[in-house]
Amino acid sequence: MEEDSLSASTIADNLDTHFVGQRVIYYPRLASTMEVAKREAQQGAAEGTVIVAGEQTAGKGRLKRIWLSPRGNIALSVILHPDVTYLPFLVMVASLAVVHCVEAVTGLKARIKWPNDVLINNKKVGGILIKGDVKGNTVDYAIIGIGVNVNLRLSDFPEIQSIATSLSDELGKEVSQLEVIRQLLVEVERLYVILQTGGSLFDEWRDRLVTLGRKVEVEWGKNTCEGVAESVTTDGSLLLRRSDGSLTKITGGDVNLRD
Ligand code: BTN
Repeated sequence: MEEDSLSASTIADNLDTHFVGQRVIYYPRLASTMEVAKREAQQGAAEGTVIVAGEQTAGKGRLKRIWLSPRGNIALSVILHPDVTYLPFLVMVASLAVVHCVEAVTGLKARIKWPNDVLINNKKVGGILIKGDVKGNTVDYAIIGIGVNVNLRLSDFPEIQSIATSLSDELGKEVSQLEVIRQLLVEVERLYVILQTGGSLFDEWRDRLVTLGRKVEVEWGKNTCEGVAESVTTDGSLLLRRSDGSLTKITGGDVNLRD
């Protein structure tokens, strides 16, 4: 029902932003918004150009995983041209944008599993993938890809039911996908502008993490290690206290909560 109202103009018209979502390219169905965003960025798309898909047939997740993105999940990619110094903070922009958006639209409390999975009641409701093209100290473009399970019945997806949730399952009723997308774009711009104007998102991002103080297993590259997630550094890296007392700094990876 909601998806019928999704189009480039219903998303972009009268959107309360200056650049994010001022140009929207909408596909009812496509392989992955990341691919189209990359092509658009390489062709010089303006900062804030957004690609939205009603459904993805080959959604990309972090660590080369597949991201399930049927109708009812929202999938979008935002093209940005940040200064290289802002790159580590885009995970904070994106994850906090999803958290704020979820809370504003549904009233549900959302938290972040390091580095940028968005959880409700300990189950994943949103995922973020950030890609960039950096040459030396120059960022040609960065793409923030965001997927949120809005109107999905997780019982229809037994393979992820134990670890994932959706806004509709949590709320017990359908949620406007259009409202979620528009609110998300407003939040992405607002938080990105805070960064660009010298503000910091670190404190709020750290305070929203479910990970700190917990026993975790972290996978990154071909490595896996266990320890206690002791803290995060201001550039977003995780500090893991190992059983031998040593501290390992991990810049990117995937965390499994063990306790
Ligand atoms: C993850 O948690 O593994 C990241 C998932 C990111 C999914 C989004 S949906 C929009 C964009 N297009 C994709 O193919 N992936 C990202």
